[in-house]
Amino acid sequence: MRGMRALGLGVIGFGVVGRGFASLFLRRRDLLEEAFGRPVRVVGISDVARGNAFDERGLDLERCLRAAESGVDLGEATGAGGLPGMELASHPAVDVVIDLTPTNLSDGEPGYSHLRRALESGKHAITTNKGPIALRYGELKELACSRGLHLKFEGTVMSGTPVLEMAQRELAGSHIESVRGILNGTTNYVLTRMEEGLSYAEALREAQRLGYAEADPTADVEGFDALAKALILSHVIFGAGLRPEEVPRKGISGLSHETVEEAHSQGKRYKLLVEVSREGGSVRASVAPTLVGPEEMLYHVRGVENAISFRTETLGEVFVKGPGAGATATAQAVLHDLLSLARDLRGR
Ligand SMILES: NC(=O)c1ccc[n+]([C@@H]2O[C@H](COP(=O)([O-])OP(=O)(O)OC[C@H]3O[C@@H](n4cnc5c(N)ncnc54)[C@H](OP(=O)(O)O)[C@@H]3O)[C@@H](O)[C@H]2O)c1
Repeated sequence: MRGMRALGLGVIGFGVVGRGFASLFLRRRDLLEEAFGRPVRVVGISDVARGNAFDERGLDLERCLRAAESGVDLGEATGAGGLPGMELASHPAVDVVIDLTPTNLSDGEPGYSHLRRALESGKHAITTNKGPIALRYGELKELACSRGLHLKFEGTVMSGTPVLEMAQRELAGSHIESVRGILNGTTNYVLTRMEEGLSYAEALREAQRLGYAEADPTADVEGFDALAKALILSHVIFGAGLRPEEVPRKGISGLSHETVEEAHSQGKRYKLLVEVSREGGSVRASVAPTLVGPEEMLYHVRGVENAISFRTETLGEVFVKGPGAGATATAQAVLHDLLSLARDLRGR
C-alpha cells in the first residue's frame, strides 16, 4: 500500500460521536485499509465549538482527542490550520465527508448543506445526523445517484445496531409489510422507571442525571426524535416521501404514573412506538405511546435499549435489539458505513 494515494476522510462535528469515531478509527484503521486497499487518513476535522484542523498527510488523532477533551482549540493543538465545514466538504484531499453535526428537525441544517456540498463536489457522504435524512432524503439520494456517489446513514436509526442496511440488503425480497420499534432510549428509560414506581418528573430527572436525557428533553419526550426515525424508515424501507406533518406524533409527557400503573396491573406496558406500514398502495407512519403485552418481544425491552420488529411476508417476524446511542455504538455505525462503502466501491 505504500506510495498509494491515501483515502482522505473529512469529519465535520467533533462532539460525542466525532470523538467516538476518532477513537474507534485508531483501533480499526487496519481493517479499513484492508477494505479500501489503500491507506486511510482523517485529513480534516471541523467543529464550531472545538476548532478546525487540517493536514493532507493525516491528522494526529490522539492529539486531536486530547485537545478536544481539555478544551484546547484543535488548530492550536495540532499546529495544523483548519478549514470550516463547508470548505472541508469540498476540499480535493477529502474523498469521504462524515457529517456528525447536531440534528435539527426544522430544516436539517447544518448537516444538509455539508452533505449537499460534499456530493456536489464528488465526495461520498456519511452521516449520523437525522435531520437531513428525515427531511431531505429524496433530494440527497437523487444527487448521490446522479453522480455515482454513495450516501450512508446507518447511525441515524439505532446507532450501530444494524437496521437500515440490514432491511435493504439482508431482508431484500422478504417484502417488509410493517415495522414497529422502540427507537428512543430516553423515553423507554423514563417509562421503565415509571413502571418501577417513579413519577414522570422523577424518572426524567434521573435520566438527565445519568446523561440519557438532554437538559431540554423536548425532542425525546415529545416524540420528535422518534418522528425523525419514522420518516427515515418510511423513506428507506418503504420508498415513501412522507413529510413530518403527515405523521401523527404523540410523546410521553402526558402519561401519568397512574396510567402506567394501571397498564402494569393488567400485565401490559406503555412503549413509545414508531410504526410504519404499507396499507394498500400507501404508507402510514405514527409515533405514539402504545400498550404492549408480554407476547410481544418489544414488551421485554427495558431501560435505554432500542429494538425493532420487522413483519415480513417470507420470514414472519424478524426482531433486532441493541443500543440506540452512545459514543462507541454510534461510531460503530460510521465504521460500518465506511466498510460498506469499501464493498460498494469494489462492486460487491
Ligand atoms: N450521541 C449519540 O449517541 C447519537 C446517536 C445516534 C445519532 N446521533 C446523531 O449524531 C450527531 C452527532 O451527535 P453528538 O452526540 O456527537 O452531538 P454533539 O456532541 O452535540 O456534537 C456535535 C458537534 O458538532 C458541532 N457543530 C455544530 N454545528 C457545526 C458546524 N456547522 N460545523 C462544524 N461543527 C458543528 C457542535 O458544536 P456546538 O456544540 O457548538 O453546536 C458539536 O461540537 C447528531 O446529529 C446526533 O443526533 C448521536
